[in-house]
Amino acid sequence: MSTNILNHPLIDHKLSLLRGVGTSTKDFRELTSEISTMVVYEALHDAPTVSTMVKTPMGRTKGSLVDSDNFVFVPVLRAGLGMTDGVLQIMPNAKFGHIGMERNENTLEPRNYYFKMPRHLEARTVCVLDPMLATGGSASAAITELKKAGATKIKLLVILAAPEGIERVEEDHPDIEIYTAAVDEYVNNAGYIVPGLGDAGDRIYGTA
Ligand code: PRP
Ligand code: URA
Repeated sequence: MSTNILNHPLIDHKLSLLRGVGTSTKDFRELTSEISTMVVYEALHDAPTVSTMVKTPMGRTKGSLVDSDNFVFVPVLRAGLGMTDGVLQIMPNAKFGHIGMERNENTLEPRNYYFKMPRHLEARTVCVLDPMLATGGSASAAITELKKAGATKIKLLVILAAPEGIERVEEDHPDIEIYTAAVDEYVNNAGYIVPGLGDAGDRIYGTA
């Protein structure tokens, strides 16, 4: 189990714009997508490749290709859907599964309300997409459902993580890797990451 924090001035730049209370819905969506592309890029650093020969205008060279069939991307509804365009930017043939998790606003307990996956999860790397890892309840429950369905290699890709969420996922699922654009300070009593960016789903879909 490891937690990888992306450390890059461009990530910090885009994250600063994303967090801003005055950022428009349009900009929030675009920035979520752009940051997601960078998180996916980092998470696929060990993607299996197949060798190929390439004929260039000047000669021939060995090349290597990433087979997108090796991966399944699983946005956690709703906010995780905001990360799918970012995946498609670099893997246009990617396969997707969908899992619906909703936190009860009072207890913060997650409820699984939807689950639909491509076949052969056991043979693929499953990348869970959710911009926010707060208490970790939703991510941990989503990963449990994926394991029940046969997934064995799972990565959790987020934009903002709180220390509480990282600790919870590390404890419940010591076998998975987390990739996050940043780690914030703490989760407040209402379940929000501080300083965070507010409610990601509401900001992506304009439902605040
Ligand atoms: C948000 C977010 C995560 C969850 C994180 O979803 O997208 O799934 O909260 O919180 P946790 O780590 O404490 O579980 P939310 O329940 O607000 O649903 P939504 O995506 O439909 O807005
Ligand atoms: N979910 C969000 O959308 N934002 C938070 O700060 C915590 C959970």
